[in-house]
Amino acid sequence: MNEEKIKKYHIVTYGCQMNLHESEKMAGILARKGYVATQDKSEADVILFNTCCIRENAENHAFGNIGELKKLKRARPELIIAVGGCMTQEKGKAEIIRQRFPFVDIVFGNLNLEELGDLIEERIHRKKKIVSLREEAQGVTEYDPPLRNSYPNAWVNIMYGCNNFCSYCIVPYVRGRERSRQPEHILEECRALVKEGYREITLLGQNVNSYGSDGATEVRFPELLERVANIEGDFRVRFMTSHPKDFTKELVEVIGRNRKICHLVHLPVQSGSDGILQAMNRRYTAEQYLAKVAMLKEKIPDAELTSDIIVGFPGETEEDFEATVSLVKKVGFASAFTFVYSPRTGTKAAAMPDRVPEAVQKSRIMRLIEVVNALTREKSAKYVGKEAEILCEDFDPKRNLYFGRDEYGRMGYFPAKENMIGKFVTLKIDGANGVSLFGTMVKAR
Ligand code: SAH
Ligand code: SF4
Ligand code: F3S
Repeated sequence: MNEEKIKKYHIVTYGCQMNLHESEKMAGILARKGYVATQDKSEADVILFNTCCIRENAENHAFGNIGELKKLKRARPELIIAVGGCMTQEKGKAEIIRQRFPFVDIVFGNLNLEELGDLIEERIHRKKKIVSLREEAQGVTEYDPPLRNSYPNAWVNIMYGCNNFCSYCIVPYVRGRERSRQPEHILEECRALVKEGYREITLLGQNVNSYGSDGATEVRFPELLERVANIEGDFRVRFMTSHPKDFTKELVEVIGRNRKICHLVHLPVQSGSDGILQAMNRRYTAEQYLAKVAMLKEKIPDAELTSDIIVGFPGETEEDFEATVSLVKKVGFASAFTFVYSPRTGTKAAAMPDRVPEAVQKSRIMRLIEVVNALTREKSAKYVGKEAEILCEDFDPKRNLYFGRDEYGRMGYFPAKENMIGKFVTLKIDGANGVSLFGTMVKAR
């Protein structure tokens, strides 16, 4: 009998949760074509790069990794190399990719990722290199089931794109305008996930608070969130990202009355200086941001916040930076992602004068990281001696411990004899080390 060789794929993902989830969609497409996943690039028939262009280093990282494949492709010309994601959606980038990496077989984008299966077929049968991109988003694509890789958590898109045009950000250019999925589709997907045994659902959008404002549905985010939380089952719900300007009392009330919704809000502040916030086109002041935080804490006293912060935006003075540090301390973020400003071609900020010298940017980010870490350590220390409920995500073979996050996003490690992945585990916290907690199991469900 002529045994057919099993075809294998390998996906490399850069960027945010949105991209990680889109890689799961790509994996689903490939699985339906009969491919199975491999961790080993050298045995893959298809290698796929799902790229990010949010900062220059994200792009350089991808460029480096694509470049490394030249040898592999020379040794195995039948290998298909595909590059997709956000970077290819940038104006002129597809051409740069083609020139720098002539061995790449397929260039596609996040706006036509549903075509991936057909593009691979085309490449196999016609033996021609393919660049297939869509400049503008065409509504919302309802995908066949993704091949999820993140049990017990499942990511669910509620909307795509962004209308905010923060002056530093490339996302609106590479992901197009806001498009909301129909609530019925979202709820159907969530119900199926709970039935399958997923124990955490994270609703995804660049700005979830503007869900429905594109006119696709009458339903707004607070209602959608509540309807997801009302699905029967023992699971928890997260969402990201919330833009502070659209963070409302109504949303806080929904969080407050549904215990399945985690008491953690990712609310990127970006800067604590009003002048910089204005130049960033964020459309709130530091005071307005702090008022939203106060509103959240008043209704939900145990609520924690996380954030994204950019340092070294054009024109940022020492005083502006100090305002950011002061706001970070005032809010007391549970943790925060900190970034050095990276100019992105085509954005407004890229043309702004008064670039902050690199050495100053570096010193500011180091100072900010120290402040953020101190807050995190302080919060960790408070856990010691108390109980925390985590959702066990995985096993760390190096530490020989299971681990997972509590609803506030804090990682807890613990020993166990049986497989605890997918269980809600109550830990007695014995010790803390920076962001991580260490505990012993009290009970599990
Ligand atoms: N829609 C989300 C996520 C956007 S990207 C939001 O609005 O929060 C994630 C983070 O990357 C942003 O919050 C911002 O802090 C950072 N970021 C975006 N563009 C950047 C740039 N040009 N330079 C540095 N950081 C940037
Ligand atoms: Fe970028 Fe701002 Fe949109 Fe977030 S809200 S994706 S930072 S433009
Ligand atoms: Fe995400 Fe990067 Fe695109 S952060 S939206 S993958 S540019």
